[in-house]
Amino acid sequence: MILPIHVYGDPVLRDEAQDVDALTPELTRLFADMHETMRNADGIGLAAPQVGRSERVFVVDVTPLVENGKLDGAEVPPQPMVFVNPEITWESDVETDYEEGCLSIPDIREKVWRPDAVRVTYRDADFAEQELLAEGMLARVIQHELDHLDGVLFLDHISAFRRRMLQRRLRDMAAGNVDAEYPLAVA
Ligand code: NI
Repeated sequence: MILPIHVYGDPVLRDEAQDVDALTPELTRLFADMHETMRNADGIGLAAPQVGRSERVFVVDVTPLVENGKLDGAEVPPQPMVFVNPEITWESDVETDYEEGCLSIPDIREKVWRPDAVRVTYRDADFAEQELLAEGMLARVIQHELDHLDGVLFLDHISAFRRRMLQRRLRDMAAGNVDAEYPLAVA
């Protein structure tokens, strides 16, 4: 089922998501719904708070960016992926920048600096413990989505100057003046 995506200004995007204790049929249903919602919106990542949920869960599918099994020169695990209770246990000192977007903040892209590689522990769709060393774009998506679980948006990483430049558009968006080619839950 395609779920409406909550938009900038909605308090649910600022809440801290809660650890998941056990795999339930309802949670498995959420994974499927989040994958479907992400695909429908042409996204490569989606976090539970974006669909109004409070579980520490995000989904990733970087398939559209993979060439010959690789992305940014690194092997990519089978896609799509589910991350439950993810934790970053290591990050590289080297940072890279990229113009990020977010399905909850339609039509705005801004340059964000992040560590180029991270090690993350998590549980997968079967609730099995996993550890992954991610690099390049996959590492970026994981960091962006994990931020969502802590109520952090990519706009929190840009300069005060850039935020001021976007102030009016963001105020409009928070007021419900927003449109996208996928269903939105406007506050
Ligand atoms: Ni996002």
